[in-house]
Amino acid sequence: MAHEHTAEGTDPDPGTLDAHREQVVTDAVVASFTTAKDERLREVMQALVRHTHAFIREVRLSEDEWNQAIAFLTAVGHTTTDTRQEFVLLSDVLGISMLTVAVNDATAAPGVIKATEATVFGPFFVENSPRIEPGGDIAHGATGEPSLISGTVSDTAGNLIAGARIEVWEADSDGMYDVQYDNDRLTGRAHLYSDADGRYQFWGLTPTPYPIPDDGPVGQLLDAAGRSPMRASHLHFMVTAPGFRRLVTHIFVAGDAYLGTDSVFGVKESLIYDFERHEPGTPTPDGRVIPGTWTSTVFDIVLSAEEHSP
Ligand code: BEZ
Ligand code: FE
Repeated sequence: MAHEHTAEGTDPDPGTLDAHREQVVTDAVVASFTTAKDERLREVMQALVRHTHAFIREVRLSEDEWNQAIAFLTAVGHTTTDTRQEFVLLSDVLGISMLTVAVNDATAAPGVIKATEATVFGPFFVENSPRIEPGGDIAHGATGEPSLISGTVSDTAGNLIAGARIEVWEADSDGMYDVQYDNDRLTGRAHLYSDADGRYQFWGLTPTPYPIPDDGPVGQLLDAAGRSPMRASHLHFMVTAPGFRRLVTHIFVAGDAYLGTDSVFGVKESLIYDFERHEPGTPTPDGRVIPGTWTSTVFDIVLSAEEHSP
């Protein structure tokens, strides 16, 4: 490309010309959103353009790479169905889901006790889980070592909350959620309510590690990056009560091999719990005699008030 001569008769630095040509594109696209009626849309789109353009400049994206990126996102779209959300999975493995959780975190809410930290929702929640009574069992045939989970639900001032709805779901000992099987089973999930004293207790399964669905484009990306698809062992909770922010979280198992390399960056120190293992035949607090080992843990849930939403 011929360079124009400056007044002094010297060629300007080609790098400066490139930077100028590139900035003209960015400025034009940012300016194109100034007409957005919705102020938030304008703010978000202008920032998105500035950051994606800066990324392209930083890595000097080639046209081949741009084509590969489009092919990859197209494959992510084609893999997505009513029951498989590959875009959310991509957001999860890029840490975008966890960063969004962090940005919206409510644990800084004032109070004597810190609100329970949130973590990723994941793709395996389903509406209309079976209701169990306090002390009931969520397994409904899912295989695994029995685990007794109990605790309280309170606010950040320590007041116990009666009638909080507690949704729980988890994978079986083969690392599979019910919805990943071909039949219509509804196992390893349920909901219950905290009692008049704000207490809850249920039987589940000692969580075990499992891989996120890795037979699609996101799995190929992990493989190319030399990353493991494994999630640290966990049990999902979603807790709601009138006047409180919805809490979506997990509890993790202390000592688990994948705590440091969780594929979706969901582990938080405050969510790691000891699952105490009991010898075969040890009677349970509710009078069951389990022939094999069983575990127990106590998870006290603290909700932040709705007004502390960010
Ligand atoms: C899960 O824990 O269920 C999960 C979370 C993110 C991606 C895949 C699975
Ligand atoms: Fe999970």
